[in-house]
Amino acid sequence: MTAITSTAIPLVPQRSWLLRPPGVYRPQDDTWMLADALRESGMPGGARVLDLCTGTGALAVAAARLGAASVTAVDISRRALATVWTNSRLRRIPVRLLRGDAAAAVRSGPFDVVLANPPYVPCPVPANGAARAWDAGPDGRVVLDELCSRAASLVAPGGYLLMVHSTVAGPGKSLAQLGEAGMTPAVIAARSIPFGPVMRSRAAFLEAAGLIAAEQRHEELVVIRADRP
Ligand SMILES: C[S@@+](CC[C@H](N)C(=O)[O-])C[C@H]1O[C@@H](n2cnc3c(N)ncnc32)[C@H](O)[C@@H]1O
Repeated sequence: MTAITSTAIPLVPQRSWLLRPPGVYRPQDDTWMLADALRESGMPGGARVLDLCTGTGALAVAAARLGAASVTAVDISRRALATVWTNSRLRRIPVRLLRGDAAAAVRSGPFDVVLANPPYVPCPVPANGAARAWDAGPDGRVVLDELCSRAASLVAPGGYLLMVHSTVAGPGKSLAQLGEAGMTPAVIAARSIPFGPVMRSRAAFLEAAGLIAAEQRHEELVVIRADRP
């Protein structure tokens, strides 16, 4: 993951612009992997879509453009939700905004398609400030565990979850938890990328925790799809 630095970014491949104020996660490799997976997922027209951990709303906008009947964007950050409001209004896309976490989203569901690019970077201290966009506890799974445990409540029968995270945060655990929850999970995309500034600054901790190999300075991003029968 790369720290927050700029104010506006091109929304590739949609080829338009997203407002991205300081303190809101800049869409990057993980965002675009999930957007690609959504595009290739065969999302039914008229789907009710949840973008959990929405940030700028990049994925909410992508879902609306792919024909979602409704899009709900959820984030714990007020600044992120204000950004989604602006980005969706600029495009005249109706997006329902909800401040909260997966538990709050369950109360507004279920959804036919759930998208999630949650924080997943292991961190020795509790997440704070802008770093709440990526820091996720000592094993990187604070938000992932919550999401996996609630997935079957978030996704309507016949629907599916698409989520992205790094192999550093243990995709095997995600697959096991989603399977135990009655979903049918699989890794549908993987891509190796060099560490960004956040991961580079955390390399010594990750090595000491046994989460990466000695001298490892790349991570693999995976997209997991989990279908609810
Ligand atoms: C990695 S960013 C992803 C942003 C956007 N979806 C994207 O792909 O570019 C994670 C987002 O999750 C939000 N977040 C962190 N913890 C959360 C939680 N427990 N529930 C909901 N959102 C959370 C952060 O504020 C941040 O906007």
